Amino acid sequence: MSPFQLTRTLPEDATDAALRSDVLRGLTVPQALDSARPGGTPIPKTLPPKWFYDAHGSDLFEQITELPEYYPTRAEREILLARAPEIAAATAARTLVELGSGSSDKTRHLLDAMPGLHTYVPVDVSESALRQAGEALIAERPGLHVHALIADFTAALTLPDTPEPRLVAFLGGTVGNLLPAERAAFLASVRALMSPGDALLLGTDLVKDASVLVAAYDDAAGVTAEFNKNVLTVVNRELDADFDLDAFDHVARWDTENEWIEMRLRSRRAQTVKITAVDLAVDFAAGEDLRTEVSAKFRENGVRGELAAAGLKLTHWWTDREARFALSLSMAR
Ligand code: AVJ
Repeated sequence: MSPFQLTRTLPEDATDAALRSDVLRGLTVPQALDSARPGGTPIPKTLPPKWFYDAHGSDLFEQITELPEYYPTRAEREILLARAPEIAAATAARTLVELGSGSSDKTRHLLDAMPGLHTYVPVDVSESALRQAGEALIAERPGLHVHALIADFTAALTLPDTPEPRLVAFLGGTVGNLLPAERAAFLASVRALMSPGDALLLGTDLVKDASVLVAAYDDAAGVTAEFNKNVLTVVNRELDADFDLDAFDHVARWDTENEWIEMRLRSRRAQTVKITAVDLAVDFAAGEDLRTEVSAKFRENGVRGELAAAGLKLTHWWTDREARFALSLSMAR
């Protein structure tokens, strides 16, 4: 069998259908309910963060990871480099499944420390990223099998039949993009992929000084602002909409209560946006926000509790030297 296999679990038109439904759901909030909510806080319009990542958005995100203010990528790499041998020893994994693998860049540190690994299963929505990363990896590592899955990791997954034990990795802190209820469902679905003795390696950004967090999501060079507005470009292109990018301001705010960063796009004026493909006209008041991302920050006890609720026992907790970011290892029971 070829050392590189690719399985598509997403129908070709799934992305288009999902974007339409997310736009319809997120931009047609029930205005009538606004005044009925205690305290009168309006239900914000929302778009899920997964729509940032077209080719340009993915490129902007790569640029973000190199910004002086954006520490998570460097902090996580520091931990991976230091701990890869311990991770390999603790898991004895023969299969590595990586959710949201992208370019598989950071994964190389892990793969290098796992000489006993039989198969790498990168899971991503981007077929081009999977092909590129997969082909490069088998060229570098003769003997390694790569079985790439084109799939949305927030939906139900079926893994290929590969040797156990398995290590499932979900890096970058992307779990923080899920709201608490979504996170619980996600962790339960990950646990359902695992057998007793399998492990989960989870990257989580940590609660810290608000000024450090806000700067990481509102950099001086404006790359994150451009990344945030790129979601409007995606909707303009894919759904024939007429968002004016200059009519929105990038906002990053720390929500103390929920302990998450929110990225928003704030309408500079009253305006109506047409989204032709879904036959929608969306009104924005001056100063009204569209929430485009939640990026939750964590504490050790919170992570331990969320994992336990999903049937996973936290066995290792590693941070970078400045304790900005954590990698946890947990075991399926
Ligand atoms: C890729 C989801 C981990 O939440 O920090 C970077 C995305 N958003 N800057 C994050 C992001 C704004 C990033 N994740």
